[in-house]
Amino acid sequence: MNQVVGTSVTRKDGFAKVTGQATYSAEHAIPEMVHGYLVTSAIANGRIQAINPSAAKQAPGVQAVFTHHNPPQVYQPDNNFINSKIYESRLPLSDDKIHYGGQIIGLVVAETWEQAREAAHLIQVEYEAEPPLVDAKEANYEPATSMFGEEMVFRKGEFATGDIKTGINEAAVSVEAVYETATELQSPMEPHAIIAHWHDGESLTVYEPSQYVKGSQRTYGQLFNIPAENVRVITPYIGGAFGSKTCPWSHSILCAAAAREIQRPLKLVVTRRQMTANTGHRSETEQTLQLAATAEGTLLGISHYAKSCTSPVEVFNEPCTSVTPVMYASPNLFTQQDITVLNVGVPTFMRAPGETPGMWALESAMDELAWKLNIDPIELRLKNETTEHQRKGLPFSAKHFADCLKVGAERFGWQNRSLQPRAQYREGKLVGWGMAAATFPGNRIGTSVTVQLCGDGKVKVMTSGNDIGTGSYTMVAMTAAEALGISVDHIQVELGDSNFPNGGVAGGSMMTASLAPAVTEACQQVLENAKSRTVSEACSQLQQLGQDYFEATATASPSEESKQWAFQSWGAHFCEVMVDEEIGQLQITRWVSVMNIGQVMNAKAAASQVRGAVTMGIGDALMEACHFDPETGYPVVYDLATYHIPVNADIPRIDVTFVGEPDLNFNSLGVRGVGEIGITGVAAAVGNAIYHATGKRIRQLPITPDQLM
Ligand code: MOS
Repeated sequence: MNQVVGTSVTRKDGFAKVTGQATYSAEHAIPEMVHGYLVTSAIANGRIQAINPSAAKQAPGVQAVFTHHNPPQVYQPDNNFINSKIYESRLPLSDDKIHYGGQIIGLVVAETWEQAREAAHLIQVEYEAEPPLVDAKEANYEPATSMFGEEMVFRKGEFATGDIKTGINEAAVSVEAVYETATELQSPMEPHAIIAHWHDGESLTVYEPSQYVKGSQRTYGQLFNIPAENVRVITPYIGGAFGSKTCPWSHSILCAAAAREIQRPLKLVVTRRQMTANTGHRSETEQTLQLAATAEGTLLGISHYAKSCTSPVEVFNEPCTSVTPVMYASPNLFTQQDITVLNVGVPTFMRAPGETPGMWALESAMDELAWKLNIDPIELRLKNETTEHQRKGLPFSAKHFADCLKVGAERFGWQNRSLQPRAQYREGKLVGWGMAAATFPGNRIGTSVTVQLCGDGKVKVMTSGNDIGTGSYTMVAMTAAEALGISVDHIQVELGDSNFPNGGVAGGSMMTASLAPAVTEACQQVLENAKSRTVSEACSQLQQLGQDYFEATATASPSEESKQWAFQSWGAHFCEVMVDEEIGQLQITRWVSVMNIGQVMNAKAAASQVRGAVTMGIGDALMEACHFDPETGYPVVYDLATYHIPVNADIPRIDVTFVGEPDLNFNSLGVRGVGEIGITGVAAAVGNAIYHATGKRIRQLPITPDQLM
């Protein structure tokens, strides 16, 4: 065994990326390609009374203009996530109705992007406007429904065990508070873009950032009523996604449909402004948390009620309460989620959907309870640890949450913390220390991989699974290198093409856990096919047989035995803040994260994933918010300058440590994935540190300077 898994390997695609050689979707050049520009609604509710494209049609270079009067043809797909899904159920340009500000109401196609943009602004639209509803506080809520069918019915967010009222009545101490979060935008570095290239109107090649290449392939097949095999989706590189690139948005559907009608390859890039309405967001939430405990700090009740918002054209329920039965043991548990419809674009997955806002509320409430009980917040968490997933009724596999807390406390120096708020000062500023837990489920699905072993000892690994910037190329190469006993440099990895076997979804933190076992399996099979124990033996076989390569394709899926366990990753964040109350200035000055993710695949990439997620969590805590203008209903965010996210100066050195052991009940390598867990609990750690510094409990995100003064 040459022990590659678990070491630090620099990303294989890094050089190509920093030298501009990595080709992103919009960078492909197809002969005869034309350019599209979206026309979007100026109102957020109502209908189009009249739309006049004649000036646009006559503008230089214009090839075609599509509106709801002449929509290009598409068919409604199943809209079932596993099979084929589109983000917005309403097909683009299907009628004159306007459901949200910035909704797509037309597409202009021209020889150049500038010509298409110019013409788009010449389109005259008259609206019949109605007042938009964008204020969640004024909305009526209903019980949330599930989005993904029976197997994921828990996403409704409803769960009850014991009797929550009894728990609260019997408690010596309880806390009840309302925690709020803002609407957030995924904001990937690479904007949404697509090139659609039809071949005789019968088969389609799509260059588009897709976290789920095989899913997109099936969806496009259904959208155009052609066999999935006639669709090829190509996504070798993605510049970040965070949940916003798992299936086609309306702009993609419209682009592919228009390309078929005009019989030219068509490129459509969505502007940052258009992305605020048309490529997803995380709903704002309002969560009521009640915790009840004995005087010694044993939980008797946890109640978590969450409200979130969706769009008139799709149901997406931000599953805030999914974590609640997972974190702490309580004989009485109650969770419920309600939802309302606002005149906003479609909310969707955003890094740790549900867990991010849910852990903000739960982990803030735990801190409030600890202060009220006068117990250390780490001790409170250790006291109420659960060995069982209380909703699934299954024991956790390879759980090392307690180690995360203990190792984190040690690395941070937690024992030196003052036991009162407003008691630590440095450089004339208040200093506060806070901690919070992190968690994310260990997800896994079946995947397939093809391996080719060539005569020169080089090995090629191919799968449709892809790399959204997280390090899949490197992870696949490391796994193959380990299985074959050769160097990572001898492995060539090809990803993100629907012509390759099904490589699963780059979402739900499951790419590594799903794909690595299939890579191992395929590598072992290719040696078996070569009747060899080593790659060099196989090479001699090839020479003797006069063959170019041996090939094997293998599939790995979760086993039946694995259903006896609950798989969950764990962590703890520790944070130091310095606050200048006079000007409301806050600086995060220290950060320690300890994670238990099973076997660490690539130590360097895993630590980077946690650092990136903590950085995004600090944005969630202190900066990120997309507001809607109550008059127009429009998002009051235009670009990455008006949507505030952290820069280097906002982020301290982030100390990341991993604890635990391989989770071998989960898969053959024991890896659970690390993409999302790092963001969970971050906002609560910040809020808890602010309380320790200032004595102020702030329950509304983002925590802005005005709240600190
Ligand atoms: Mo992630 S929100 O599962 O892309």
